Amino acid sequence: MIIDEIMKITKEAGNIILTAERPKVMEKSGHANFCTEIDEKVQAFLISKLSEVLPEAQFLGEEDGQDVFSSKMKSGYCFVLDPIDGTSNFIYGYRPSVISVGLLKDGKPHIAVVYNPYDDMMFQATDGQGAYMNGERIMSSEAPLSDSLAVFGTAPYYEELRDRSFDIAKKLLPCCVDLRRSGTAAWDMCCVALGRCGLYVELKVQLWDYAAAALIAKEAGCRVTDVDGKPLSFAGPTSALCVSRGVAGTDLSSVLQ
Ligand code: IPD
Ligand code: CA
Ligand code: CA
Repeated sequence: MIIDEIMKITKEAGNIILTAERPKVMEKSGHANFCTEIDEKVQAFLISKLSEVLPEAQFLGEEDGQDVFSSKMKSGYCFVLDPIDGTSNFIYGYRPSVISVGLLKDGKPHIAVVYNPYDDMMFQATDGQGAYMNGERIMSSEAPLSDSLAVFGTAPYYEELRDRSFDIAKKLLPCCVDLRRSGTAAWDMCCVALGRCGLYVELKVQLWDYAAAALIAKEAGCRVTDVDGKPLSFAGPTSALCVSRGVAGTDLSSVLQ
């Protein structure tokens, strides 16, 4: 099956991360937005191997200079890659970082693989067929927000969103057990899928951050939308809100406004 081949390739790519030594760091636009030679190496590896699995697929990868979703990517297969989600974590040795491989079919999420090489945790989902971690079916938590951890992303590259991000964090804290900030959006959504926390929110993420993890979370029973409650576009940047089964019925409007 295609998903097994994608997982095998993603795991091999994880080895590149695990064996990397002090990579050269390049800066991109936005506050502290980095790319390392390992991000580029992982992405090149993924593209070369995945194109053997599905030769007709197009690619949208964070680090290939072609990071704009074009309308032609809405038809047929398109791999959406984040070779290292959590590049700052990777640079500073603050774990985890994950590899995110989403496969869109006609612009909709079809297959998702997210791999945390440090803990050897392989998440996978196919649309309509449930979410799995290391082969075991996963479901999000049924606990209410008041009995859950919540995780937020700081949308670090967008200074104009800083005040609102921390405003949300401040309002969220008294509603939950405590807040976390991991440094990888894909991992955050996988943690909600796994039942480790009840909510993830971030005011701006890119398609490669959420293409895979949003499907994994949905298949684990989470509700995944933008912060206004609309379905994610799977066509470009958006805000993201991912809540567990236990939090799905909670009115969050006073926290998110
Ligand atoms: C970032 C991480 C971070 C999130 C940012 C993302 P990168 O991805 O997922 O947690 O807050 O929104 O851009 O740059 O490390 O691939
Ligand atoms: Ca990312
Ligand atoms: Ca990245």
